[in-house]
Amino acid sequence: MNPTTPSNRRDALSLRLRPTSPADLPALFEFQTDPESNQMAGTKPRSREAFFAAWEKNFADPGVNSRVIELEGVVVGSIARFQAEGRDCVGYWIARTHWGKGIASRALAMFLAEETRRPLHATAARTNTTSHRILEKCGFRCTGFRMGEETDRFVAREIADFVLE
Ligand SMILES: CC(C)(COP(=O)(O)OP(=O)(O)OC[C@H]1O[C@@H](n2cnc3c(N)ncnc32)[C@H](O)[C@@H]1OP(=O)(O)O)[C@@H](O)C(=O)NCCC(=O)NCCS
Repeated sequence: MNPTTPSNRRDALSLRLRPTSPADLPALFEFQTDPESNQMAGTKPRSREAFFAAWEKNFADPGVNSRVIELEGVVVGSIARFQAEGRDCVGYWIARTHWGKGIASRALAMFLAEETRRPLHATAARTNTTSHRILEKCGFRCTGFRMGEETDRFVAREIADFVLE
């Protein structure tokens, strides 16, 4: 095996998930302000007040199981199980400076090994084909598409629904 191939280099990067703590919030807040990330996800960034208020609720909510993603000891993203419309869902977000390193794919696989609730649902903007690829690699199946109306959190967009059974 050639240790210098890109896939081997990716696997060699040390990735770890650990429970989210209040000390992680300033970094996660910065990640979610990035315009390109929001365009990809079809989201609107939260104000500082709304962001910290949402996380205060998350920490108290047993329906939420959140992890930060650490690369070589540095927080580079987040992944969580949360409830939406009465269903268990998963979502993830990687800092833009770390895109394309296989981090979301590996983090989702690691998360699914420890978070065993099924079925687990996921939604992605129809145009977010990068996220579709990540979900499908981890065994999620696309169940269809629907229109999502604009809310204070999302822009109007077509949504792809996924499930892992
Ligand atoms: C989507 C996101 C999580 C991807 O993170 P990442 O760590 O760069 O993703 P990975 O490197 O693990 O995997 C990307 C995969 O998509 C593929 N890909 C890249 N661009 C693509 C495209 N335009 N269409 C289809 N697949 C694409 C890559 O080739 C890779 O697949 P491979 O490993 O089989 O080669 C990241 O861009 C992000 O946080 N975006 C903003 C928030 C967001 O969209 N969250 C998801 C909401 S559903």
